[in-house]
Amino acid sequence: MDNHDQLRSDLLSRIADADLGRLEELRVEALGRKGAISEMMRGLGALPGDQRKDAGQALNALKTEIASAIDARHAMLSSAGLEARLATETIDITLPSRPHADGRIHPISQTIDEMVAIFCEMGFRVAEGPHIEDDFHNFTALNIPPEHPARQDHDTFYLTETEDGARPVLRTHTSPVQVRTMQTSEPPIRIVVPGRTFRADHDATHSPMFHQIEGLVVDENTHMGHLKGCLTEFWRAFFGMDDLPVRFRPSFFPFTEPSAEVDIGCSREGGGLKIGGSDWLEILGCGMIHPRVLENCGIDSSRYQGFAFGLGIERAAMLKYGIPDLRTFYESDLRWLKHYGFPALAQPTIAGGLTP
Ligand code: PHE
Repeated sequence: MDNHDQLRSDLLSRIADADLGRLEELRVEALGRKGAISEMMRGLGALPGDQRKDAGQALNALKTEIASAIDARHAMLSSAGLEARLATETIDITLPSRPHADGRIHPISQTIDEMVAIFCEMGFRVAEGPHIEDDFHNFTALNIPPEHPARQDHDTFYLTETEDGARPVLRTHTSPVQVRTMQTSEPPIRIVVPGRTFRADHDATHSPMFHQIEGLVVDENTHMGHLKGCLTEFWRAFFGMDDLPVRFRPSFFPFTEPSAEVDIGCSREGGGLKIGGSDWLEILGCGMIHPRVLENCGIDSSRYQGFAFGLGIERAAMLKYGIPDLRTFYESDLRWLKHYGFPALAQPTIAGGLTP
């Protein structure tokens, strides 16, 4: 048993000195299939029967002792390592933020943040949905039947047909998120949906990918007066003009009845376009949700009603920030971003002022 004691004290002292890498080597050296302890186990067969049992037990005890010494050392080294790393990685959260951060917030992100800040203040929450939609959510549930001309108006990007014959579409508006939200939640519902939309259209004023924000309110007593008040307040807050003229003009959408388009006051004097004034600029579509849409989404239209609206983010950003060309939004030109972008650390809020 001298051998045994020798091996034990030798291994224990080497474990006590080992670093993490050396510890793994020691594990193999002591406990591996070709390791020292296994070697001694194999030697047991040569011993006389009465000694074999005691020697076997002693070896097993040694094996357990070495394994737990290795585990203990391993735990100690890794927690010491973690402590040391944490100590080098502390940050002083009382330091002022970097005043000269170079990155800028893109005007589209900024405009979305501003709009969301206004609507959240009014009690809306943000919802999102997939860019790749199916026919039901993008069209059918919204009361746009298969042969309806609105499907062509939307210049839809269709994807390759799937095995079951369905044709996925890149959503042509954010309205399918109305459907998804009504299908999965109980009224009262108050959501806004900022996000990307896609239409096969490309010129100075149209991009195949653009952004909309959708609004949806469903409750028992929601009426057209709420719709008018909500959107009038919204535009006045967005443009920072308490007396901005806002008017509602009858229009048509398959998913709302009655439907309206909203114009805001502007002036075109001297060739430029200015917000505020006695001329009109069309800026948004809206209406009371068609009862058939409510029913398509599993909502009882004899009990609930509501309104919806959808507007283009790029256009609102161009008007507010004087950006003349739609295409520049997507060119990732750093000089443009520096000029039209916003400071990275100034989050728009109602109380703090929307625009830094
Ligand atoms: N989905 C419409 C569009 O993209 C906008 C809209 C939304 C109109 C909700 C009415 C109600 O043009």
